[in-house]
Amino acid sequence: MEYIAYPIAIGINLVLQALWFILPAYFANSSPVLGHKLFGEYNYPIDFGKKLKDGKRIFGEGKTWNGLFFGVAVAVIVGYAQSTIQASYQMNGFLPMSIQLAFLLGLGALTGDLVKSFFKRRIGFERGQSLFPFDQIDFILGAFLFSLILVPFNCIYLAILLIITPVIHWATNYVGFKLKLKKEPY
Ligand code: CTP
Ligand code: MG
Repeated sequence: MEYIAYPIAIGINLVLQALWFILPAYFANSSPVLGHKLFGEYNYPIDFGKKLKDGKRIFGEGKTWNGLFFGVAVAVIVGYAQSTIQASYQMNGFLPMSIQLAFLLGLGALTGDLVKSFFKRRIGFERGQSLFPFDQIDFILGAFLFSLILVPFNCIYLAILLIITPVIHWATNYVGFKLKLKKEPY
């Protein structure tokens, strides 16, 4: 029995480690929609409404400064909570979270999201129009890239997250849609 249980336990442990590492990025990616709603009267698009020569917006109405600041702030708060937990509990094998790392993960996540929106506008996709799988993994790639400033590249974490994130992303977006925070269920 332990021949089967052991590898499964290792697998679950790795998934939890990867989720622990990326948690600030998950929060950064899913909270701008809330920031957008809470500070609705201060919605300043990051591109200031500017269009490129193709007649399309640089990023679009869905990418705002308040969303960006709110998302990064939430990521930092989550990272701080994680570092507090790790100061009290021994979590062997888990990468220590820090405010600095959480900041990079949050900023990287939303930069990845921004870069994706830039390309969506260039190929003529309207704001909110789904572009699978890039809508789902953009923030993971951005967060990973920015995190390299502080931590070594972990290809196993990346592989795990690229597989499970589209599922989790869809689930959280669906909740946001049901709570009327989002216009589309994806
Ligand atoms: N949001 C924001 N600022 C950001 C990112 C997101 O205000 N930097 C808010 C917007 O209200 C946005 C919502 O979060 O509509 C959902 O984000 P996302 O799905 O990334 O944007 P879309 O509206 O789908 O736009 P795009 O087509 O450019 O991806
Ligand atoms: Mg979207």
